[in-house]
Amino acid sequence: MKDPIKIAITGAAGQIGYSLLFRIASGAIFGPEQPVDLNLIEIEPGMKALAGVKMELDDCAFPLLNKVVTTCNMDEGFYGANWALLVGSVPRKAGMERGDLLGINGKIFIGQGKSIAANAADDIRVLVVGNPCNTNCWTAMKNASKIPSNRWFAMTRLDENRAKAQLAEKAGVHVNEVSNMTIWGNHSSTQYPDFFNAKIGGKPAPEVIKDEAWVKDTFIPTVQKRGAAVIAARGLSSAASAANAAIETVRTLVTPTKAGDWFSVGVCSDGSYGTPAGTVTSLPIRSNGKDWEVVQGIELNEFAKEKIAASNKELLEEQAEISKLF
Ligand code: NAD
Ligand code: LMR
Repeated sequence: MKDPIKIAITGAAGQIGYSLLFRIASGAIFGPEQPVDLNLIEIEPGMKALAGVKMELDDCAFPLLNKVVTTCNMDEGFYGANWALLVGSVPRKAGMERGDLLGINGKIFIGQGKSIAANAADDIRVLVVGNPCNTNCWTAMKNASKIPSNRWFAMTRLDENRAKAQLAEKAGVHVNEVSNMTIWGNHSSTQYPDFFNAKIGGKPAPEVIKDEAWVKDTFIPTVQKRGAAVIAARGLSSAASAANAAIETVRTLVTPTKAGDWFSVGVCSDGSYGTPAGTVTSLPIRSNGKDWEVVQGIELNEFAKEKIAASNKELLEEQAEISKLF
């Protein structure tokens, strides 16, 4: 049996946690040969519910689940972790923007960054899901300077999947036909889902969907505001689709990307495409299964450049606001 991969998950007794843990334990990220240890982290009031979640994990008798730790002590939770999935934080309610959560959630990531740096394994990689996820990721990264900046990720995969689903529906094809879907910028309503460089059935999307008014007036706002639409419909923010996106983010980072394709995730920018170096922003990424790189050479029209600039500005404003706290 291989050595287990240890995954620390915060907010493990929450909605996303409940959709996430069982799939990870059944092998959805690392495959059917790879055992996992789960370190489940909650705040004290969540510990009773977390005990119930642990009972259910036990009751699944998953062959790949080696060990489960439940704790409200971050240092214990992050100890020896190879991956940390930072989900734990407050979700927004109807009428709020995700950025409105910065004052509530932002400070959580100061302590978590420090604790990860002090306790995690040398190969730790971190995916931040809790909102506003780009800036929360930046905050944790800034408070864990000994961990290289290419190990930090913020989740925009749910936006990518939403964009692919919208394009597939409009084109009347299966979602598998949609590729090369970039989400640029912040996981907020300033994000820019890039129709112009996406492909449908291997062809440039504009050759398949020749309706620019639909792209600008329907497609882009639908993707930008999909989270709010789910909250309006469910009374709760997305959970199963968010958990699925977290799984797909990690899986695609640890799997070689199909030739010619790419995926979207928030990473620490190297300044590519005019994004401010050092911000955590969503970019087109390829992986060789171990390391990732920003895909270069994608053409951006004036419309795209304007949209990306607006998201850059918002990210810098969020960073300025949270950095007052550390
Ligand atoms: P939830 O309220 O159902 O669960 C959150 C859990 O986190 C709770 O059990 C809570 O006790 C726990 N928690 C709070 N602070 C914590 C801390 N400091 N340490 C450990 N645990 C802590 O919320 P949810 O629906 O699971 O959503 C969690 C977060 O994910 C929210 O911020 C939400 O906005 C965000 N989210 C992001 C995306 C994305 O695409 N990036 C998608 C969906 C949701
Ligand atoms: C989402 O995109 O569904 C999440 O970020 C939750 C939200 O607040 O929109």
